[in-house]
Amino acid sequence: MTTITKMPLGKNGPLVSKLGLGCMRMSSVWGGQTNDEHESIATIQAALDNGINFLNTGDFYGSGHNELLVGKAIKGRRDDAFISVKFGAIFYNGQWIGLDLRPIAIKNFINYSLVRLGIDTIDLYQPCRMDSSVPVEDVIGTVADLIKEGKVRHLGVSEITADQLRLANSIHPVTALEIGYSLADRQIESDLLPAAKELGIGVVAFANTAEGLLTGEMKAPLAADDYHLHFSRFQGDNLVKNLEKVEVLKRIAKDKGFTPTQLAIAWVNGQGDHIMPLVSMSRRSRLPENTQAMEIVFSAEEMDALNTHFAPGSILGGTYLQR
Ligand SMILES: NC(=O)c1ccc[n+]([C@@H]2O[C@H](COP(=O)([O-])OP(=O)(O)OC[C@H]3O[C@@H](n4cnc5c(N)ncnc54)[C@H](OP(=O)(O)O)[C@@H]3O)[C@@H](O)[C@H]2O)c1
Repeated sequence: MTTITKMPLGKNGPLVSKLGLGCMRMSSVWGGQTNDEHESIATIQAALDNGINFLNTGDFYGSGHNELLVGKAIKGRRDDAFISVKFGAIFYNGQWIGLDLRPIAIKNFINYSLVRLGIDTIDLYQPCRMDSSVPVEDVIGTVADLIKEGKVRHLGVSEITADQLRLANSIHPVTALEIGYSLADRQIESDLLPAAKELGIGVVAFANTAEGLLTGEMKAPLAADDYHLHFSRFQGDNLVKNLEKVEVLKRIAKDKGFTPTQLAIAWVNGQGDHIMPLVSMSRRSRLPENTQAMEIVFSAEEMDALNTHFAPGSILGGTYLQR
């Protein structure tokens, strides 16, 4: 399998794999299925064996199930893994019902996370969103306190605005920004990505396949119970037109001898040395294909063709990433 190189996460930050493993879809989130536990643990361990040390979880992924899984997978090999945990989302019966970013809540969350993960320190701890009801200063200040206490090593943030990023970084240095980014979702290129670069903050880019749109495997119309139908991007004519766009990605992928998913990951990877594609892989069989994507290099013409074809705004309709 492809050797995964390392990148510093943020200015003078820790060395982590240039490809991250997203563990979210191993657990039931948004009412989805829980993946086979044996396969999930084997996938995390195979990723670690192949140099993918960045593992991404959240305390609300499967109501703690995801952290328990990660904890089992890293048992006896803590030092092989870099653990990134999000907090703050409140789910009930598989539905997002709000955010709780109060300092008192964060102090409660972290102890549960440490127990579930079976570790003493979380490498990267981050609010999953910001919330106008709790000042950014209080949220970031609480994580800074946890860093002083030794329960957390680095501060991260997720899905925030450029202004919030600047404010957070002025309170405590931000090591990483976790953000949705793909050929289909490029809005952050105008302000957030330049701000992260200027501040020396590493970018952990998720949803590289745009909820599966860029895998080339989606067909219209979707089954009536498909969760994608919640998002306008996957409804009616939008989906038909968006899949036509994806045909170009499929053609370029075929010409280069790769899959559309590999090109979607490679495009994100190619956006900078400080940008990590964070990819969901719930089974070991995904690893060879997705790690090979990290070897792909685009010619200037290919990059130009992709950037033009998938210019910001060219994919119709939104997902929960609509900003
Ligand atoms: N901060 C946030 O707000 C936020 C939001 C969402 C996600 N995340 C994190 O980011 C990670 C990635 O996000 P994501 O799951 O939304 O996006 P993604 O990585 O694009 O994955 C979407 C889907 O693509 C599938 N896939 C992966 N490799 C494939 C391949 N080679 N061919 C065909 N399909 C393939 C995955 O299936 P399988 O699962 O079956 O392998 C998954 O269901 C998550 O695991 C989570 O840790 C963060």
